[in-house]
Amino acid sequence: MRWWGRCLGTAVRHAALEQARKRLALVLVLFFVPLWLTLAYQVLPSDPVRFFLRAADQRVALGANTVSQLSGGLHSLALIVGFMMFLAASRSAEFDHRMVLAGYPRICLLLARSTVLLLTAALTASYATAWVCFFYRPERLDVMAAAFMVGALTYGGVGILLAALLRSELAGMFAVIMLSFIDLTLQNPVANPSADSPLLKWLPAYGAMQSSVSAVDLTHTPWRHLLLGLCWSAGLTAAGLAAFTARTSRRTITQRLLGGRATRPRARQIALRLLHPVRTYVYRQAGIHDTTVITGYEICRRLMHRSGPVEAALTKLLPGRLRPLFWAMYGYGRHIDDLSDTQHLDRQERVERVSRFSELLEADLRAGHSEDPLRAAFVHAVWTWDLPSDGVTALNAVYRQDAKGQSAITTWDDWYTYWRTLTFPFGVRRLMALLTTPGLAFTPDDAQALRVWTDALNLIDVLRDLREDAAEGFVKLPAAVLDEHDVSPEALAHGRADGRYADMVHAMTAKARQWLAQAATAGAQHPPMAAALQTVIDLHLLELDRIDRKPHALLQRRSRANPVRFHLTLARGRLRTARAWHRHTQTTATTPATIHLPHPAEGHHDTARTTPPLPPVPHPSGVQPPQLPAHLVPRHVALIMDGNGRWATHRGQPRTAGHKAGQLAVRDVIYGALEIGLPHLSLYSLSSENWARPAAEIQAILRLVRDGLVMETEEVWRRDVQLRWSGLPEGLPPDLVHALRETEHLTRHRTGLTVNMCINYGGHSEITQAARELARQVAAGTIQPDDITPRHLAAHLHHPDLPDVDLLIRTGGEQRTSNFLPWQSTYAELVFLDTLWPDTDRTHLWQAIDTYTRRDRRFGTTPSPPTNPDEQALTG
Ligand code: IPE
Ligand code: IPE
Ligand code: MG
Repeated sequence: MRWWGRCLGTAVRHAALEQARKRLALVLVLFFVPLWLTLAYQVLPSDPVRFFLRAADQRVALGANTVSQLSGGLHSLALIVGFMMFLAASRSAEFDHRMVLAGYPRICLLLARSTVLLLTAALTASYATAWVCFFYRPERLDVMAAAFMVGALTYGGVGILLAALLRSELAGMFAVIMLSFIDLTLQNPVANPSADSPLLKWLPAYGAMQSSVSAVDLTHTPWRHLLLGLCWSAGLTAAGLAAFTARTSRRTITQRLLGGRATRPRARQIALRLLHPVRTYVYRQAGIHDTTVITGYEICRRLMHRSGPVEAALTKLLPGRLRPLFWAMYGYGRHIDDLSDTQHLDRQERVERVSRFSELLEADLRAGHSEDPLRAAFVHAVWTWDLPSDGVTALNAVYRQDAKGQSAITTWDDWYTYWRTLTFPFGVRRLMALLTTPGLAFTPDDAQALRVWTDALNLIDVLRDLREDAAEGFVKLPAAVLDEHDVSPEALAHGRADGRYADMVHAMTAKARQWLAQAATAGAQHPPMAAALQTVIDLHLLELDRIDRKPHALLQRRSRANPVRFHLTLARGRLRTARAWHRHTQTTATTPATIHLPHPAEGHHDTARTTPPLPPVPHPSGVQPPQLPAHLVPRHVALIMDGNGRWATHRGQPRTAGHKAGQLAVRDVIYGALEIGLPHLSLYSLSSENWARPAAEIQAILRLVRDGLVMETEEVWRRDVQLRWSGLPEGLPPDLVHALRETEHLTRHRTGLTVNMCINYGGHSEITQAARELARQVAAGTIQPDDITPRHLAAHLHHPDLPDVDLLIRTGGEQRTSNFLPWQSTYAELVFLDTLWPDTDRTHLWQAIDTYTRRDRRFGTTPSPPTNPDEQALTG
């Protein structure tokens, strides 16, 4: 109930402030109402007109100026209130949709609209009545005020109803003018001698006009007529609000967004297909069929188009299948950002709204679907493109801080921390992973350049939103920059430029330009991405030019680049990018087997060779590896990473969630291996037997592995780690094979730890393949069957130079080796851990190694002599 009350309070406050901010309407009321009342009274003849007043059931005589003054006064109120309500109802439609999507009860929004209508009508009617008193004292002041109020309410209702029916503001204004003109001209006995015609009883302003005229001279209360006016206004408002209710129902949001009138899902799909063939194509390409999800994507797409012109342009430059991903990410960000910094809400409410949304979203993410279109689209994107869900939690936390007003940005370091948490890990890394295909790859340098680009993007966004952010009390520039230029956030909030404001803006645009210049180097090996990025940079530069020319305009309105130049640049960029993709598909289609690897001579791309490796990231707890003498450290540890599925099932999550969680464990164990000085580590990622699992699970594992490889470009592959891959390419997606080979190539000069990733690996087939090779050599006569030794066979294994396994660890509690490195593990020490793989970290590896150091490895000999001197004496 408290929550409900607060919702109502918020909605009323928002609607009332929105109304109060309509300065034009206020001027109209303050200026035109008295202007008309004065001119009509003073200029029009005061000769009496005689007419039959139904409200009094008698003939009356009143000055023509008084009658016209009243009818004109009512007309002004009808026009002003009608149009104000029309604008309020139609402009807030989107806000209301989002309030509904954010979980606000619709009834609150309805009550808020009605309350504001009542308030507006009461205020304008009192104002007009006060002015009438300036000329004469009506017999019934209360009736006159009530009549004006009823007239205003009636046309307020007309405005609300029209807002539900008409889209264009011009059409709405025209309709209000014409309706009120016809209505009130006909009701005026001066203009229409037959104003007592019974037909006129059916017009909306009838009750108000009759009552106001009767209030001049007569003492009775025209209850029936006032009530009739009220009925009109109640009826019209109810119709308008019913239309609003229908419009904000989930189903209609769906329909409206899909542009069709169809109500059933099937019909909706057909409508979408017929009305938006291009968009349907995009959704089908991305494999999206669920209408709630499509609706959500459409909401997000619209949010993006409305507020991020360059971001929207970038989306158009990407392959169609990825566009929904960007819409969803942007829609989520925009929506939660709006929730966290909507003006007029106090801090407590904002925090509550953001927390509520985050909780619902996190629950939906666990469930894998949502009833709410916006969240459904986001959940769909997270699951389909495998966005890091811990990233979502982190983002939600940042927005919660925002809502609390706690995120202070003092220095540039704070700025980087704030913005990079919001954009880089979540969006751009993922983009890099998704755009990596055979022949097209990103280097760590590209990642760095893209990171710089997102900095520029964010800085420009901060400039775009400077005034809005300041008004919300959170300028997203380092406070040091404001101080340096003597600019106060308070002045910005009021749209005033103080201190050296223009210099500050120029300094920021210069910084953004510098970052853009650095970013322009990205994508050297990825021409389509390079073309897309260049286009986006050109668009940013247009925006910056505009800001530089008119820095003060930032305080008036959102800055937009020149639309003609913007669209021309975008069109050219789209062409360039499409050509780059086309050229790439042609090359890969004609030469499917060649995978472009940078030539070692291309020194500047060969980062692994030119940049010294980074040290491993320490364990979060700061724990250090045990100090072991080098001869006790195993040369080769093999790890069967088992238990992902059970880990997820125990948590009520899908198995894929376990595989995803397992990836973090892989990273940690690699760092642990580096710290303890292990030279070789084999990791069992996918066995040849695992193909027996459901296709969806295998696809998910493969996707994770591929994305992991790309994403680790900045993490693991910058350490002293060399990657090897053991397994067969058959059945694996070409982009995964490509990513594996490329990372092998990239890290080939590393000398620290060799990580042998076993993907699509089976011991039997490894040995069979080696046997086949030997058989070929026998058939060719290069070797005699009797000369074959184990060494000959080992020479044909995937990586003959890998030493035999000293220690084989299996997590997850099972005690078997599942076809893992059978040749290499014949003398391995076995350690079985009950820990499920996602719960494993480097400390488990160190413990297992510790256990290993205490084992007595005999290799077929007798037990080694005890090392304890006492025991020696005893046996000696
Ligand atoms: C091992 O975890 C990982 C792979 C096979 C890729 P599982 O998926 O086998 O997990 P459990 O054994 O079912 O718990
Ligand atoms: C072994 O795990 C393969 C990997 C860890 C990649 P499984 O879970 O598939 O092994 P089994 O089939 O239960 O022996
Ligand atoms: Mg298993």
